[in-house]
Amino acid sequence: MSEKSFQPKVAQKSPFVLEEEAGKKRAWCSCGLSTNQPYCDGAHARETTGMSPMVVTCETSGKVPWCGCKHTKTPPYCDGSHNSLP
Ligand code: FES
Repeated sequence: MSEKSFQPKVAQKSPFVLEEEAGKKRAWCSCGLSTNQPYCDGAHARETTGMSPMVVTCETSGKVPWCGCKHTKTPPYCDGSHNSLP
């Protein structure tokens, strides 16, 4: 697989809405290959995608809509882009 041509895989066409805790660090899978969605499991490196996870610290406790389609314009959060995927 060529690194430049890698397109993120759609893990699911909807967000992963999960309860998170303020201060918790999360690594959001951006390549879509992780089997531990929406979090990174190292698959981006195993598959030489040239991608890397986005690491964020949750600012507040509560539900977080992690993008599951990997095509959001506001990573790592869902922005509704999954609705316009083919
Ligand atoms: S799940 Fe990706 S934009 Fe909604």
